[in-house]
Amino acid sequence: VRPVVAVVGSINMDFVVESPLFPLPGQTVLGKSISYFPGGKGANQAVAAARLGADVRMIGAVGGDEFGGKLEAVLRKEGIDTRGVRVTDGATGIASILVSGGENTIVVVPGANGALRPEDVHGNAGLIEAADIVLVQLEIPFETVEAALRLAKTAGKKTVLNPAPAGVFPDEWLQWTDIVTPNETELAALVGAERLDDPAVLESAMRKLHDRGAERIIVTLGANGAVLSARNGEIVRVPGRKVEVVDTTGAGDTFHGALAAAWAGGASLAEALQTAVDASALSVTRQGAQTGMPAAAELERWRRE
Ligand code: RIB
Ligand code: NA
Repeated sequence: VRPVVAVVGSINMDFVVESPLFPLPGQTVLGKSISYFPGGKGANQAVAAARLGADVRMIGAVGGDEFGGKLEAVLRKEGIDTRGVRVTDGATGIASILVSGGENTIVVVPGANGALRPEDVHGNAGLIEAADIVLVQLEIPFETVEAALRLAKTAGKKTVLNPAPAGVFPDEWLQWTDIVTPNETELAALVGAERLDDPAVLESAMRKLHDRGAERIIVTLGANGAVLSARNGEIVRVPGRKVEVVDTTGAGDTFHGALAAAWAGGASLAEALQTAVDASALSVTRQGAQTGMPAAAELERWRRE
């Protein structure tokens, strides 16, 4: 049987502008190109999990504009169950993404994502109850994330909280969270640290989060892979893969979708972590968030190369 993953999260249209440099305030530069890609952390994670073989159910919201219909069609084409995607009166979420030299800056305008309510979660309880694992991020209202975590944990599901963007959330949520997955910036925000570039500082930050109730923490480290820390002191480190970076947009989302699909599929967390690091490394060699996500067979081939 295929593992079932439910994602409660955002659905955006990404406007990706390639530029020779990041302009300073007041500066105008000539860009190289603009592309429109399906995105949003929730949708991206759903697509990554689906490509790697999971049966995925999406709970989210799009606008009644032309983007909304397109984005829902994209999800359905990936085989994702979109019965939990509500069409609102407002505008579809948009992300304005500037890419330069393999790095990016992103401004998200939530639109319909901001209208996703706890009632949407409760109204789609069946989708969550049918899942092995539930994935959430922070691009939808806080109370909706909380409702999803609480319902999922009450139903005995595995839960993953990706505190992106922004990082900060109430400690109370940790009681409903099996794995919390900040990147370095988000972890720094969570524990009130300036930066975590030193391994000892990183470890003490993770310890702080365990003390606040986190059972397991995965910190994604970009090109340096990821580290898993359990409250009992167990640490698993997966180094990064050397790849030629084209576009890192959605790398974290690929990581999360892959982690969820592998873990729900019966892999150990250490194995799932390796799959997540590999899938996300492969995804940054290609443009776009969802466009760069590998399918299972492709990932297998690449891992053997
Ligand atoms: O994580 C990448 C995503 O963040 C983009 O697809 C964009 O939509 C923003 O939500
Ligand atoms: Na990419």
